[in-house]
Amino acid sequence: MALVTTKKMFEKSMREHFAIGAFNVNNMEIIQGIVDAAAEENAPVILQASSSAIKYARVGYLRKMIEAALEEHPNVDLALHLDHGPDFETCKMCVDNGFTSVMFDGSKYDFEENVRLTKEVVDYAHAHGVVVEAELGKLAGVEDDVNVEASDAMYTDPQQAKEFVERTGCDSLAIAIGTSHGAYKFKGEAKLRFDILAKIKELIPDTPIVLHGASTVIPELVDMCNKYGGNIPGAKGVPDEMLHEASISGVSKINVDTDLRLGMTAEIRKVFAEKPEEFDPRKYLAPAREQIKQTVKHKIRDVFGTSGKME
Ligand code: G3H
Ligand code: 13P
Ligand code: ZN
Repeated sequence: MALVTTKKMFEKSMREHFAIGAFNVNNMEIIQGIVDAAAEENAPVILQASSSAIKYARVGYLRKMIEAALEEHPNVDLALHLDHGPDFETCKMCVDNGFTSVMFDGSKYDFEENVRLTKEVVDYAHAHGVVVEAELGKLAGVEDDVNVEASDAMYTDPQQAKEFVERTGCDSLAIAIGTSHGAYKFKGEAKLRFDILAKIKELIPDTPIVLHGASTVIPELVDMCNKYGGNIPGAKGVPDEMLHEASISGVSKINVDTDLRLGMTAEIRKVFAEKPEEFDPRKYLAPAREQIKQTVKHKIRDVFGTSGKME
């Protein structure tokens, strides 16, 4: 079984109202943890690499490790996606290296420039059988310190979203409804603009919607990091209930990186703190890999509703 694009899995997600987890990968243990979890849950899954992940792990290693995962689990529908492609060249490099999906992130440009640059990527990717995720709107975390007026302007405008999809021909659209990247997403209560999501789905019902910055920042993992010498006080993410609501309300792809980072770090810190005599990397990387697997299983099964959703 070869890597697949996200086309069919997104169509099924929109028909059956569930979301597909897109998990960031940087090394072998993360890839194994995610794909083992998806295989056990009989769930489609998206592995995504950012340009800095590609720089770190090197594109050939990522591709070959993912091919190995697929050989081990030939029944899993697996897509390989470029996360936050910054420019045409990076997107092209991924298309040429066997990625089945690329994101061009033009959210920092004005609308017209975002349309123009996204369209260039779409034309190249589609000519090579690869699908494209684009982004409209801006994700801002609490660290960005934006005022209420400014934050209103950052949400995706539904009318613009419709025009953007029509003019670019992108296959899926990442929107801004209040999520943000990293471990500090909300100062007080978590709040997402489900009304904006509903309006967007009304205007472009057939376009799969993507939610970035969607880690829960799992409190147990934050506590575990802090207990074993970490220093990440006050970290806060999107609660499971809200992600579940998003999954049944038209979001097709949910991006998770921070929760995997926290899980991996928490387990490694625990071994370092409890067994200072240990220096075999397998002794701390194996529990880290297992934590990733359990975290991904939980999201797929209990939150996104992806278990048993293989074609
Ligand atoms: O949204 C960004 C992802 O969490 C990837 O982060 O660029 O540090 O690999 P990164
Ligand atoms: P988190 O930082 O919330 O995990 O978001 C990851 C993401 O959006 C990757 O593109
Ligand atoms: Zn993102």
